[in-house]
Amino acid sequence: MKILLLNGPNLNMLGKREPDKYGHTTLDEIVDGLTAKASARQWSLVHVQSNSEAELINQIHAAMGNTDAIIINPAAFTHTSVALRDALLSVSIPFIEVHLSNVHARESFRHHSYFSDIAAGVIVGFGARGYELALDAAADIVNN
Ligand code: DQA
Repeated sequence: MKILLLNGPNLNMLGKREPDKYGHTTLDEIVDGLTAKASARQWSLVHVQSNSEAELINQIHAAMGNTDAIIINPAAFTHTSVALRDALLSVSIPFIEVHLSNVHARESFRHHSYFSDIAAGVIVGFGARGYELALDAAADIVNN
């Protein structure tokens, strides 16, 4: 099973960035933990973080036909990007949307997502643990 993990803008700053909202765990720590969890199950996990919408779109296009599921935290693009939504629709790969913080308990502009209605599922508010939950959920989606 092959999983693509995508992280959007400013998530490279995890650990330093607003730790009261996003925690102290760095993105490298999250990815290392997830990679270990995936490889223990003989799955391959490819990770890309980008601050660029175009790069994330290109990565989604490149996943077509070779990836079983996508785990994506679109970060601020969650609330703005029709283009990323259309990219995910165009490749027909099931995806799970993850947010570290509980976006519904924050500013109203974070309550709307361009992804949630087309996602296989959404995990919000569990911090770094949300990515592990998403990996388990990805396995369920692919194996069912
Ligand atoms: C986020 C929530 C978004 O509203 C915000 O723009 C982010 C991170 C989260 O993981 O909680 O950058 O996606």
